[in-house]
Amino acid sequence: MKQQLILAIESSCDETAAAVVKNGREVLSNIISSQIALHTLYGGVVPEIASRKHIENIDGVIMEALHKANVTLNDIDAIAVTYGPGLVGALLVGLAEAKALSFAIQKPLIGVHHIEGHICANYIENKEFEPPFIALVVSGGHTHIVFVPDYGKYEILGKTRDDAVGEAYDKVARAIGMGYPGGPKIDEAAKRGNPQAIAFPRVFLEGDSYDFSFSGLKSAVLNYINQCNMAGKTIIPEDVAASFQAAVIDVLAEKTMRAVEQKGVYHVALAGGVASNSALRQRMKQECEKRGYTLNIPSPILCTDNAAMIGCAAYYEYQNGITYGLDLNANPSLKLGDR
Ligand code: KG4
Ligand code: ZN
Repeated sequence: MKQQLILAIESSCDETAAAVVKNGREVLSNIISSQIALHTLYGGVVPEIASRKHIENIDGVIMEALHKANVTLNDIDAIAVTYGPGLVGALLVGLAEAKALSFAIQKPLIGVHHIEGHICANYIENKEFEPPFIALVVSGGHTHIVFVPDYGKYEILGKTRDDAVGEAYDKVARAIGMGYPGGPKIDEAAKRGNPQAIAFPRVFLEGDSYDFSFSGLKSAVLNYINQCNMAGKTIIPEDVAASFQAAVIDVLAEKTMRAVEQKGVYHVALAGGVASNSALRQRMKQECEKRGYTLNIPSPILCTDNAAMIGCAAYYEYQNGITYGLDLNANPSLKLGDR
């Protein structure tokens, strides 16, 4: 089989990323230029600043990805790019770049759904991993339980009705003074806290629902902090972090296990930035081991936003004969499974 090299670009939020991926699963380079330090000044991602920084960084990031992979544009067989969901101005930078490159080298353009990319990150390190499986997708903007019957096929079983998990982590972290991005900070602080210190609610919604709701939990944390402040009680941030995290993970683990049983597919995959959370990884491992299910989790660097996952997803689209025209537009609210 002729080898296929895909140059992939990701710019949907605050990471400018490019990667060269060979035959879908072999990552020759994976360059990520993070803007986190800049956005930290404002306590969250400022869309306008993100777009401008992508413009400044994208050429350099692509050059570095090609250089690190020891290839030139002439060796590339297709250009992959995230076209949604995400911040529209940020997406447009990557998309314009990808279209220009596709036109210049006369090679196909492949648009990728950002969440499909996160799910496909599972194929990169474990070469044997393949559908069918149940994916728990937990990121800054999304919380989904997805049944993946085959490459490129996605059945959403449930999703959040309000806040995404990562968003809840970031908001709670801000409330207890840990700053942005909150996920990794809560992860660290929770290791020193007591998860049973505060009984925060576990929201399961209707009995058989796979949907999530995290805004009530977030409000419960904020109320707890306000009540402590009013009563002059000392707040122990590590306990708040650990108790909040325990409430989140209880719900994520239970619903995922139920989806596995219902579908009768005993393979689980984690995806998205929050999948790098140490307590979630440990809990899912325990739950899967207990039941004899297999569990796949990408390394943390492939869980948070990167372009290698986009190159991997594009490869399987390309195998299915899917390419896009130069009229492809950014779609900030693109649904998983839509084209
Ligand atoms: O997938 P991602 O990089 O970007 C989106 O597509 O949203 O996810 C970013 C989210 C942020 O909310 C961040 O706080 C969270 O992932 N995150 C974590 C951890 N690392 C990143 N949340 C909990 N624990 C972590 N270790
Ligand atoms: Zn993401």
